[in-house]
Amino acid sequence: MPEIKLPEVELNIYSPRDPVEVPIVENWICTKESSPNFVRHITFDISGTDLEGRIRVGQSIGILPPGEDENGRPYKLRLYSVCSPTEGEGGDTSLVSTTVKRTIEEWDDNSLYLGVCSNYLADLSPGDTVKMTGPSGRRFLLPENAKDFNYVFFATGTGIAPFRGMVMELLDSGIENDVVLIFGCPYRTDLLYADYFEPLDEQYSNFTYLPYISRENRRSDGSKKYVQTCLWDDADLLDPILEKDNTLLYICGLKGMEEGIYKALAKKGLKKYLDLREGVIDKKPGEWDENDLKRNIKPAPRSFVEVY
Ligand code: FAD
Ligand code: A2P
Repeated sequence: MPEIKLPEVELNIYSPRDPVEVPIVENWICTKESSPNFVRHITFDISGTDLEGRIRVGQSIGILPPGEDENGRPYKLRLYSVCSPTEGEGGDTSLVSTTVKRTIEEWDDNSLYLGVCSNYLADLSPGDTVKMTGPSGRRFLLPENAKDFNYVFFATGTGIAPFRGMVMELLDSGIENDVVLIFGCPYRTDLLYADYFEPLDEQYSNFTYLPYISRENRRSDGSKKYVQTCLWDDADLLDPILEKDNTLLYICGLKGMEEGIYKALAKKGLKKYLDLREGVIDKKPGEWDENDLKRNIKPAPRSFVEVY
């Protein structure tokens, strides 16, 4: 197993008290077709700011939405994962991008709730400016010696954002090891950046894109296809990769998905991606019960997790 050398990063170059104002240069829908969910790819111009060249893929930027909450306090910042590679969107260090899903909910009193920051961002046009902070995040990164590893990326929804930039960076580097992206979404219409990932899967023999469409595709027992079921449904592809000593596992998206993935890894006996605590470690996979798994599984050094 090669040493995982994580890069040094600078954090919070701009804080919420001292944000930087930057213009938007692009804002387009990145779902596949007429989806009832609205997810947008938004690019900011950070040229001339101290952020230029100092944001890495895997980190997040903060956005301060204008206005005040119901208690009259300024809205707090929201974090958004960087979806452009470290060298910048399209190789331009002055451009950084993210992937924003509009939060739209119907509440119990029949009222419609529109999330403050996601809708603020999604409504903006090129030329409009936003207050930005960051970057944040020091561990959910690609190692400096990135080409030494294989990668298994698990994403749900906008959790695909960092993997867009990471896949770009890895394939551009000429990596010969395997890169697998497992992406979960409810319907085919919710596939994000599919026009980018589908051709890459054709073009690169070492890159595989596996969409898991939970409300359309069923498993043979009738249950939903969730990203973690790929450990059985695509075992022929994944087993040999996950068994290698130089494979890293990344998880990004819905809070809660990580538990399902840990349980699936534990059930498969893939202990090296997990820190199995006291008691569980000595048991064989078939002997683990739900409580063992819930209380005693944590990610191990080879696993990287960003959930929200
Ligand atoms: P908010 O207005 O903050 O609402 C959020 C939730 O709070 C809603 O579910 C709402 O029901 C609830 N709520 C609000 N007010 C009330 C109330 N009075 N009573 C009860 N409930 C209430 N999001 C992305 O789209 N893309 C990303 O790449 C991304 N990356 C992230 C990375 C990190 C590290 C983290 C922590 C979060 C990330 N997020 C990302 C989530 C993002 O930060 C925001 O949380 C999200 O956009 C929703 O913010 P909002 O202001 O639109 O919604
Ligand atoms: P479902 O909604 O059918 O239960 P989005 O963010 O676009 O809504 O997509 C999230 C995806 O993650 C959906 O396909 C959703 O399935 C799926 N999902 C929901 N809960 C989990 C979980 N615990 N583990 C893995 N995937 C999940």
